[in-house]
Amino acid sequence: MSKNILILPGDGIGPEIVHEAVKVLVCLRDDFGLDIEMDEALVGGAAYDAAGHPLPQATLKLAHEADAVLLGAVGGPKWEPLDISVRPEKGLLGLRSELKLFANLRPAILYPQLAEASSLKAEVVSGLDIMIVRELTGGIYFGQPRGVRRLENGEREGFNTLVYRESEVERIVRVAMDIAMKRNRRVCSVDKANVLECTELWREVATRTGADYPEVELSHMYVDNAAMQLVRAPKQFDVMVTTNMFGDILSDCAAMLTGSIGMLPSASLDAAGKGMYEPIHGSAPDIAGKGVANPLATILSVAMLLRYSLDEPAMADRVERAVDNVLDSGIRTADIYSTGMEQVGTEMMGDAIVAALRKA
Ligand code: IPM
Ligand code: MG
Repeated sequence: MSKNILILPGDGIGPEIVHEAVKVLVCLRDDFGLDIEMDEALVGGAAYDAAGHPLPQATLKLAHEADAVLLGAVGGPKWEPLDISVRPEKGLLGLRSELKLFANLRPAILYPQLAEASSLKAEVVSGLDIMIVRELTGGIYFGQPRGVRRLENGEREGFNTLVYRESEVERIVRVAMDIAMKRNRRVCSVDKANVLECTELWREVATRTGADYPEVELSHMYVDNAAMQLVRAPKQFDVMVTTNMFGDILSDCAAMLTGSIGMLPSASLDAAGKGMYEPIHGSAPDIAGKGVANPLATILSVAMLLRYSLDEPAMADRVERAVDNVLDSGIRTADIYSTGMEQVGTEMMGDAIVAALRKA
């Protein structure tokens, strides 16, 4: 039976990069027999403009019905003045929460061809391969109570709540452990247990859960130190597991180690392996519509989609090989350009990948 993929282009560069990723899916369908159907729907600012809400019911329904979701990016300055409850980001957060996508996998891999593009010395980052496992449906992003209240003296006070249940910590640590078993069997759990009770509990539960995986070496690190270690000696890490907000911050940091945030895909999975796939970068309003954005993070997100939700590892390998071959051939978008390479725009990069797919 054919699998259904919901395509959500979103805002900013979202539609441009997703267009290229769809070309890849179409090529796999038409030339390699991938049995899929695709639907498209609105999310984020585009959905707010058309339907008055960043996550319209129609979109949510399609997302529930789909086997996997491919998303571009949401947000932009145009919607910043809106009330926080209807900002584009709420569309994304709503999807994560409604679809119960608690496990966010953010690989940070340095392509050897791009070692020069990293802001760190090549010897610090060469061979880098980290998997950040970010908890995605809990923590301070969703904790109640939250808001801004007026105090008796008239001053306003903003507040959010960092909250994790033992079961939430345990399930995300298990995801990290299972992934580590297929990699180098090391997990570093990142917390702020020296200050925050919630993450003191996180550490305790991580330790208890880790005991079920005697082959995996579990370590713990405070988040401030983890941020420092990521830029000092990133290759010490194999799998990192952490809270929603720490994972948000550390994954941007890890992304930059690899030269460009334009290269990194992500998968957000539920307990059954259904997933939403998106580049970890944002909507980049400054370059939207110019045809210069790097579509590779989205195309690599397609590879993750094939691997994790469609159970098509050979197709996933094919996509990753195509990206590798195109980088080998010297084709670069502006964000990963270095002297002597051939600079292309979004569409030409997509075309190059499709051509490489047919050869790979
Ligand atoms: C990310 C983004 C989102 C987040 C925003 C757009 C809501 O930064 O996916 O990392 O904070 O999770
Ligand atoms: Mg982020």
